[in-house]
Amino acid sequence: MENVVVVDHPLVQHKLTQCRRVETETWQFRDLVEEITALLLYEAVRDITTAEIDLVTPVGPGKGRVISEAAPVFVAVLRAGLGMVPGALRLFPYARAGHIGLYRDHDTHVPVEYYCNLPPAINDVDCFLLEPMLATGGSASHAINVLKKAGVQKIKLLSLIAAPEGIKAIMQSHPDVKIYLASVDEKLNENAYIVPGLGDAGDRLFGTA
Ligand code: URA
Repeated sequence: MENVVVVDHPLVQHKLTQCRRVETETWQFRDLVEEITALLLYEAVRDITTAEIDLVTPVGPGKGRVISEAAPVFVAVLRAGLGMVPGALRLFPYARAGHIGLYRDHDTHVPVEYYCNLPPAINDVDCFLLEPMLATGGSASHAINVLKKAGVQKIKLLSLIAAPEGIKAIMQSHPDVKIYLASVDEKLNENAYIVPGLGDAGDRLFGTA
């Protein structure tokens, strides 16, 4: 699974464990998702292009490196992906953001698109799809199709937790997309929830349970 990176850093694992706990409150959950997203992104941009520049420190001339690529774009899958946006923008405050609204049909679990708003001219920029729970992979796969149709060529998927079924689905439908995760859990249950997972990420982020 060379296209799947599980970030097993102790900080990520500690924060994810707090997220999973049923007693973790909404305000804590939000902060944790934000922090985990920043840590996943830290790993996901390891290959970003930098350039050497001249600079002056208070002590004298020196050299440094700066990111030389165009600003990335973060695309949140509504609604739970919204919880990941602040963590991503914390690392790249100058980035742009898009939104793709999908809901899972209650009976079929098939994603239905109800909203799409992407920044212009994103063909050549790094695009990070933010989808906290990679369950069946249906929503993420649909969102990646939307991005590809918009001309996006460089897509990475950031999720907190994946089920093996979701990873398999993305690897089959989009083998070019690299996936960054904090955990691969055991399985999906009959309602397509990840087990043990953390419950409904949207409800836990927005207090709507
Ligand atoms: N979406 C969630 O929020 N949680 C799951 O376990 C699966 C999909």
